[in-house]
Amino acid sequence: MAQPNASQIIEGQKQDWNRVAGGWEKWDRAFDEQMAFLNHRLVADARLHAGMNVLDLGSGTGYPALLGAQVVEQSGRVTGMDLAEQMLAAAERKATRLGLGNVSFRTGDVTDLPFDANAFDAVTSRFCLMFLPEIPKAAAEIARVLKPGSWVAAAVWSAPEKNPSIGLSMAAIKQVIELPAPDPTAPGIFRLAKPGELASFFQQAGLVDVTDQEFLAEWVYASAEEYYTSLMEIAAPVQNLMAKLTDAQKQDVKQRILQAASNYTRAGRIVFPMAVRMVAGRKPV
Ligand SMILES: C[S@@+](CC[C@H](N)C(=O)[O-])C[C@H]1O[C@@H](n2cnc3c(N)ncnc32)[C@H](O)[C@@H]1O
Repeated sequence: MAQPNASQIIEGQKQDWNRVAGGWEKWDRAFDEQMAFLNHRLVADARLHAGMNVLDLGSGTGYPALLGAQVVEQSGRVTGMDLAEQMLAAAERKATRLGLGNVSFRTGDVTDLPFDANAFDAVTSRFCLMFLPEIPKAAAEIARVLKPGSWVAAAVWSAPEKNPSIGLSMAAIKQVIELPAPDPTAPGIFRLAKPGELASFFQQAGLVDVTDQEFLAEWVYASAEEYYTSLMEIAAPVQNLMAKLTDAQKQDVKQRILQAASNYTRAGRIVFPMAVRMVAGRKPV
């Protein structure tokens, strides 16, 4: 089968994330509660402070753009960009609820940024860059729009075995249907899991002082059922694989996922380890 080209992948991403936007909004509070530390880490790594003009890439339903807007205060502003207008509509509702007048969201592709060179004091991005078909192009775009001396900070998923909340669903699906061996360079959740990979893309784009650190945490669900339901409602790549299954196979996969998740029971809840790669770098002065 012919491999999709870059614009077909981007169109697919747009459709996928628009489709799960309702799920992201539904589970938003749990996400906020469990992942706030990542936003704080990104804001720190990008050296955000009052008055800055910040770009957030792949903002989805608003993070870390919304925290960034609080940190840069009224004298600064944040632009959040994403392919999926329905994810951004949720982000806008959150900005309104939080009373943030200094953040705006616009649709667009990270590999083709509609901004002048040297336009931003910082760039942030959480869980987006691994979905791009042309990561070096995106790194070059980030380097182009950053002002000299300013920082980009990005979070991407580390290895599947360190992120069982995502990895075990993939493993369960593979037990039920044969999937082609994954192309390690194809866009996907774990495309940038390898140590040094995103860092080297940043370096090739001319960024300096690049750091790459694995950040360990935990992700807690009230029950295996809650985990399964949220996974199916927010994880567009998992949904795509599930769509290939018959109803009987879906039931089989569900039981396997529930069983595998229950191995992570601690004090009556499901506690998954989580490993995120935090990569930062700056444009030379
Ligand atoms: C996993 S979500 C992360 C959203 C948010 N940053 C967060 O951490 O909650 C990934 C987001 O990346 C966006 N995305 C994927 N490819 C993109 C591209 N080429 N340009 C802009 N956004 C993209 C998707 O539309 C989706 O909203």
